[in-house]
Amino acid sequence: MAETVLELAKLISDSAETINKACTENGTSVPSLDAPFDPRTEAFRGHADVSIAVNTAISAAYQLIATLRPAPASIFQLATSFLHSSALRVAFEANVSRIIKEAGGKGLHIKDIAAKADLDPKKLVRILRFLATHHFFGEVEPDVFANNRLSSLLDIGKPLSEIQSNPITKYEGTSGLQAVLSLMLDDSHKASAYAWETLHDSKTAFSEEPAESAFSTYIGNGKTYWAWLEEPGNAKKEAAMSVGMGTGQTASADAINQGFDFKSLNENDHVVDIGGGIGNTALSIARGNSSVRITVQDRAAVIKDGIEKWKQSFPEALSSGRVTFQEGDFFAPQSIKDASVFILRHILHDWSDKYCLQILSHLRAAATPSTKLLVMDSIMHYVCADTANVSGGMKNDAPAPLLPNWGAAGAQLYIADLAMLMVHNAQERTLPDLRELLKRAGWKIVRVYPDEGGLGSHGTLGPQVEAVPI
Ligand SMILES: C[S@@+](CC[C@H](N)C(=O)[O-])C[C@H]1O[C@@H](n2cnc3c(N)ncnc32)[C@H](O)[C@@H]1O
Repeated sequence: MAETVLELAKLISDSAETINKACTENGTSVPSLDAPFDPRTEAFRGHADVSIAVNTAISAAYQLIATLRPAPASIFQLATSFLHSSALRVAFEANVSRIIKEAGGKGLHIKDIAAKADLDPKKLVRILRFLATHHFFGEVEPDVFANNRLSSLLDIGKPLSEIQSNPITKYEGTSGLQAVLSLMLDDSHKASAYAWETLHDSKTAFSEEPAESAFSTYIGNGKTYWAWLEEPGNAKKEAAMSVGMGTGQTASADAINQGFDFKSLNENDHVVDIGGGIGNTALSIARGNSSVRITVQDRAAVIKDGIEKWKQSFPEALSSGRVTFQEGDFFAPQSIKDASVFILRHILHDWSDKYCLQILSHLRAAATPSTKLLVMDSIMHYVCADTANVSGGMKNDAPAPLLPNWGAAGAQLYIADLAMLMVHNAQERTLPDLRELLKRAGWKIVRVYPDEGGLGSHGTLGPQVEAVPI
């Protein structure tokens, strides 16, 4: 009964052939895991066949592991995966990648790494060895560690002295990836340990309240994540959140224009980005279209940061009045009544249906008959094949014997969904879920722009769902 194993191995070897052929044709190559990350080496993914082959190989490799590894070992690995987050956090907060880089990058003895980080070398070495065993850092000689492609991404690219002396502003001007990591590895990780207590307690089990999430159980003061971020002492986390929401963490600057045609809007059009953060989405739209008016609404603290950021990055858009920042609570009636496009990017996934209905109903009340609503969140795939096409064309098309949703290659979606559950008592939605939610607030889906890279991959912003008033 080794048939499945042979099929999985063949999928991997066929994928490797496809990748190799495309690289030869395009003059690219697959970057070595041993060398630090360099965005230019990602060029090999640009080919459509390569992206499918990569997903096939990842999905098949995970399925092969799950098939061949003794089941007790597999369950033990899964049950102890909290150790990955804990070990990664130690390496990240101790700036190990930076320390190694500043020493020349060839590798540094654990005693020197630990001295710079002010940690016990006998403990840190075990953390790094655990990570290196999972292809994160390399132990290049006994007790000597070097960065590799994965570990180098922990480095925020600023001198160690600057990182250590400016903990609040350290993520400014970075891609946002490390800012998100800092939040995930700290409070999201700790909050998720309270999932069972929160999901089965009769007080919180069926709750739709954001202040009754696993995160709220963990902090124990009945606050939402957003209210907690504003508390004194959390400035570092608020700053990380602002930077982390940047599109730069996973997407190219032009990714926003790969769905809805923002470039076709003119000076009579008005785009309103609700909960638009510090204006990262607005920046991509404004750069691609020099006439459309844009208003970014968010909480006061975020708006202040946004204005500061735009004074640096695009001051003329502010001074001309073409782009405006406005304090706005999306649970209050919407003040802008002439919107051509309302954008909700990564907003609905932060809230349960009860709260999403409030947000969507305020927008519906302020919409003109021609207003469009663009919802930009991940769309969840079923794990099984969607033969009845209830997902409206969202692909669940991995070849057998792979899981139809591409298994581990698409895991990012399910990670995002559970992170929303733990932190906000919220969720990512399937297309039928979203269609029903929008309908209840008076909106109808007219078009879905799929995530062209698929599976939330590098360089894309995920799908865009366009709705109009019913
Ligand atoms: C996940 S972030 C998304 C930011 C932005 N749309 C993006 O895609 O980068 C959610 C945003 O909702 C904002 N927010 C939370 N509660 C809000 C409220 N009641 N009214 C307006 N904005 C709010 C947060 O400050 C944050 O900027």
